[in-house]
Amino acid sequence: MKDKILVTGGTGYIGSHTTVELQKAGYEVVIIDNLSNSNREVIDGIEAITGVRPDFVEGDCTDIPTLRKLFEEHPGIKGIINFAASKAVGESVHKPLLYYRNNLNTLINLLDLMPEYGVKGIVFSSSCTVYGEPDSNPIDETAPIKDPTSPYGNTKQISEEIIKDYVASGAPIKSILLRYFNPIGAHESALIGELPVGVPQNLVPYLTQTAAGIRKELTVFGNDYNTPDGSCIRDYIDVVDLARAHVVAMTRMLDGKDTDAIEIFNLGTGRGLSVLELIDSFERATGVKVPHKIGPRREGDIEKIWADPKKANEVLGWKAEVPIDETMRKAWAWQQRLPKN
Ligand code: NAD
Ligand code: UFG
Repeated sequence: MKDKILVTGGTGYIGSHTTVELQKAGYEVVIIDNLSNSNREVIDGIEAITGVRPDFVEGDCTDIPTLRKLFEEHPGIKGIINFAASKAVGESVHKPLLYYRNNLNTLINLLDLMPEYGVKGIVFSSSCTVYGEPDSNPIDETAPIKDPTSPYGNTKQISEEIIKDYVASGAPIKSILLRYFNPIGAHESALIGELPVGVPQNLVPYLTQTAAGIRKELTVFGNDYNTPDGSCIRDYIDVVDLARAHVVAMTRMLDGKDTDAIEIFNLGTGRGLSVLELIDSFERATGVKVPHKIGPRREGDIEKIWADPKKANEVLGWKAEVPIDETMRKAWAWQQRLPKN
């Protein structure tokens, strides 16, 4: 058995897939989640896939006594992956304090307790949102950080700064900041996946719900952008590829002798796809038509962004591998397992 890892937000979308990959790689996982955006059945899914039930603590990372109790009852945690956060961009505009309080207090509490409990490193879920509208694509880690476009995006920028300042102060920890592009899809078993609450704001869950007949039609937000087909371009990365990157990052952080105390990696495929291309890919992969229409632009949308993942490819030895059609098939298989309501 390898080291014991604390996965905060581990019953969530990316956290659950990462827990599966950590367990497959031999790590022991303890999850803490307050179930504000997930449910405890996810643990059953993880166990069904890996044959191992991760330890689960229902609790809130903004509460220090809860975290202390966790570290005392689960001694020997060596690394943390901090997924726990609120993540709805639109909601963050209306409830900024909720976002600053939840996302920043969670991080500060974890950082504060790490030295005391002998935790060596923390992997942090950041986002390509820190690059804003890039000056050019693909974008690498040296690109300038732009003014945030939402309180949510700002929590990611501030979190990165908090970690950098803490490490610079001489705190005995290491950190890897992972800037995700657009995670999509589900586990090939269709036992875990993304659970959108209410009307999905993100493209793929809206698309699969439309294909399933839950939504009447998908609206493509704008076809007058400066892109080949006029719709926005993103770097869609399969969630299992993304999860695997966390395992490699954790191993490097805990076992690497001469690695820097802070490292930053873009996690994307390096391939930009437009909204219309993604719809095509879904229809091709599944044979299911997606009723869609062109609508106005969505406020605040970035026109085009895709990753230069060279640093992650070379330094981590990790590469996104799942072809987009396969990701679409998995997203569809997961949608078909979800209850219609
Ligand atoms: P998610 O909502 O599915 O998972 C987050 C989990 O954290 C949920 O299970 C939620 O219940 C839990 N949680 C929230 N606040 C908590 C708290 N205070 N204490 C304990 N648990 C708490 O989201 P996700 O898509 O899996 O995202 C994981 C991380 O990746 C987040 O930090 C998110 O901001 C970041 N991220 C996500 C995307 C994306 O498109 N999904 C892109 C970039 C970055
Ligand atoms: N889109 C549509 N119709 C929809 C939903 C989305 O056309 O019904 C388009 C959007 O305009 C955009 C693309 O699909 O061009 C992707 O939109 P998403 O909402 O799925 O993703 P975003 O790139 O806007 O943002 C997501 C997360 C952010 C995160 C960012 C980068 O919501 O939190 O990816 O990781 F910061």
